[in-house]
Amino acid sequence: MHRPADFPAFPRCDEVPAWGALQAHFDGGGRSLDLRQAFAQDAGRFEALSQDAPHLFADLSRNLIDAKTEDLLLQLATQCRLAEQRDAMFAGAQVNGTEGRAVMHWLLRYPGSEASLAPAWAPSGMEALAAERAQVADTLDAMLAYAEAVRVDASITDVVNIGIGGSDLGPQMATLALAAFAKPGLRLHFVSNVDGHELDGVLQGLDPQRTLFLIASKTFTTLETMMNARSARDWFLAQGGRDTARHFAALTTNVAAAREFGITTTFGFWDWVGGRYSLWSAIGLPLAIAVGAENFRALLAGAHAMDAHFATAPLARNLPVRLALVDLWYRNFHRFTSRGLAPYHSGLRRLPAYLQQLEMESNGKRVDRQGRLLPYATSPVLWGEPGTNGQHAFFQMIHQGSDVVPVEFVAVAEAAHQLPGHQQALLANVLAQAQALMQGRSDPGGHRDFPGNRPSTLLLLQRLEPTSLGALIALQEHRVFCSGAMWGINSFDQWGVELGKVLAQDINARLSSGEIAGLDGATAAWVTRLARQSST
Ligand code: F6P
Repeated sequence: MHRPADFPAFPRCDEVPAWGALQAHFDGGGRSLDLRQAFAQDAGRFEALSQDAPHLFADLSRNLIDAKTEDLLLQLATQCRLAEQRDAMFAGAQVNGTEGRAVMHWLLRYPGSEASLAPAWAPSGMEALAAERAQVADTLDAMLAYAEAVRVDASITDVVNIGIGGSDLGPQMATLALAAFAKPGLRLHFVSNVDGHELDGVLQGLDPQRTLFLIASKTFTTLETMMNARSARDWFLAQGGRDTARHFAALTTNVAAAREFGITTTFGFWDWVGGRYSLWSAIGLPLAIAVGAENFRALLAGAHAMDAHFATAPLARNLPVRLALVDLWYRNFHRFTSRGLAPYHSGLRRLPAYLQQLEMESNGKRVDRQGRLLPYATSPVLWGEPGTNGQHAFFQMIHQGSDVVPVEFVAVAEAAHQLPGHQQALLANVLAQAQALMQGRSDPGGHRDFPGNRPSTLLLLQRLEPTSLGALIALQEHRVFCSGAMWGINSFDQWGVELGKVLAQDINARLSSGEIAGLDGATAAWVTRLARQSST
């Protein structure tokens, strides 16, 4: 079994000469780059700042950078030894130092031994990962065989995934995105919240003998998931459900805990897969049941193609690197606090929520790998809604508000429906938004004035299909890796979620007992008030 090598110390972004050079460039005029002038002065701007990457096309030309900025940013990446950091991840090093773990979600989509699926690239330490690779291939085969068996079992009409965070957002987002590939008539439900309204609402109208529950939890200890799983099992038995073994399966790294819970059908994964990076593992089972084994493998293949691009493309044409560098420029020099995400495809409506966890749980850190307080900002706030809905809600602020919010548009060229006119109107809107943000409109009188020069990125998929979705998600994963690596933080732990979990357990007990000794004044007042009401 592979033993992760230490992840060596790498220079932090503020410790390398390019950091100061970027600040000087920013102060010396870089901050006031005008996109309209930049396009007028450089006929090659679009060409230089856009590129093909596996299964998608990216336009970075409407960002507040020019050749000099990008050159300095690339120097920063080189001086932070970003390529070595990437290679260390691909060699199975202990990138997640605080948890003593390697970071190898990319291995889950590394092709198996089938000749038809030759890997697009081979990381240098691949031989040392032979045992992990074999386990991955075996588990994938078993999980996809199970998915196919569920799909042909006409007695199963509803699949309920019970999980939260990475055990919910990925499969839910992808199942919505790939709805056009799903088995007609098979209903997928996702229950995550400990709020009983959610589970109760899903259970209404379900027939226990026609329902499969998937209990998805990396740790198999998460309070919300365990409570929902117990309630689902109680409901199943109370409704006369028989054969729990057939109607419950667990997706987890903690197979022993799942067995103890009473679930015999289990699909495992490994501690080197972070929860928010686990869509490619057994956590993807609900998606595999919806779209079938072939489509699930196509998703993995699309992600692998992006892995190969990230691993081999020179930094200057490496899309995850280029996106991360723009992110860093905005966060640390322009000091923009958030990034908007606007997917122009309704199937991508959960993409903002998914990317929120990916980026903010990964890079929402304020100390470096050595535990030193950082003197600069890290993760932006990520937020968004599908276009065109966002246009009729918060785009007012993005166009005319006092803050600059770089927007990432994700568009899809071809629709999966036949309704005339809609797709063209949708594409016209995404282009118009990007144009309006950049061009603005002058109205010296005031209220109709659009300042313009507001940055955006446009990612284009030809079709929303398994390969392009896989590539899009892997792109975002690697981009987060790159900014985290240059910031010198551990992007793969999440200690910031622990405190609230511990306190909730204490408060839960106090809501039963009414005991307030030792609490702060506000919490004590609330416990007193709510203990009376929640005691049923
Ligand atoms: O509380 C945060 C978190 O640990 C996430 O990182 C994770 O995706 C989620 O909870 C669910 O965890 P699990 O899959 O172990 O139930």
